[in-house]
Amino acid sequence: MSKDLDKPARAESGNIPEHIAIIMDGNGRWAKQRLLPRFAGHTKGVNAVNKVVEACCNRGVRYLTLFAFSSENWRRPPEEVSLLMKLFRKVLVLEINNMCQNNIRLKIIGDLSKFDTELKQLIQNAEEKTAANTGLTLTICANYGGRWDIVNACNELIRDGLDQDSITEEMLSSKLSMAYAPPPDMLIRTGGEARISNFLLWQMAYSEFFFTDTYWPDFDGKSLDEAIASFQKRERRFGRTSEQLLESSE
Ligand code: IPE
Ligand code: IPE
Ligand code: MG
Repeated sequence: MSKDLDKPARAESGNIPEHIAIIMDGNGRWAKQRLLPRFAGHTKGVNAVNKVVEACCNRGVRYLTLFAFSSENWRRPPEEVSLLMKLFRKVLVLEINNMCQNNIRLKIIGDLSKFDTELKQLIQNAEEKTAANTGLTLTICANYGGRWDIVNACNELIRDGLDQDSITEEMLSSKLSMAYAPPPDMLIRTGGEARISNFLLWQMAYSEFFFTDTYWPDFDGKSLDEAIASFQKRERRFGRTSEQLLESSE
């Protein structure tokens, strides 16, 4: 590890990403490596979520967005899908007090219409209970797909009765399911794959990507610090030149 990476991310507290999005991947392979059923990896993955949420609170991250279940994950064996739904229900019930104690506002985004009534009710309760919290905004993406989000936003604009050629980028952004948050400054994907898998397609136009081989159940506060340290070494130019950035900071 380089000297720079060794430096705790907290050292540069002024440049903590405001919004971190994570594709939590590698649960199945984590379990397989230990000759355990895939589900053991998902259960262990919940511990990693707790660790990373705590780390984000401590480091002053404002928004943490976690990809928990994609619109494509229904293609998995039915037993795995049903166990994942059960785990989701359990987390919603067990973690809600913890979230309130830590001033966390919980949001769940995705096509929730596909969930059963009980789960929809739990989601609504969890959001309502934490709605007034002012600390970290934790968004869980469940039955989420970036394409679904964009199509949904377009349909809402049409429903509003907009004229042809009148749609702007700002208007479309305002109809996305995460319109309450700025776009992610950084995307982390664990588990060794280097793809987006239909996550926040629109909002990732200028996110900094950080891919790590670490399987999600092994990801913790230290891993997060490494990602943040990498983010802090990058120059975000948004189309401009380095010289222009230097000039504007003088
Ligand atoms: C991510 O881990 C969790 C979900 C997609 C629900 P995986 O289950 O995809 O783990 P791998 O990729 O098979 O190791
Ligand atoms: C992406 O992981 C979705 C989540 C982490 C919820 P997958 O494991 O489903 O992604 P692919 O299928 O390998 O691209
Ligand atoms: Mg996977």
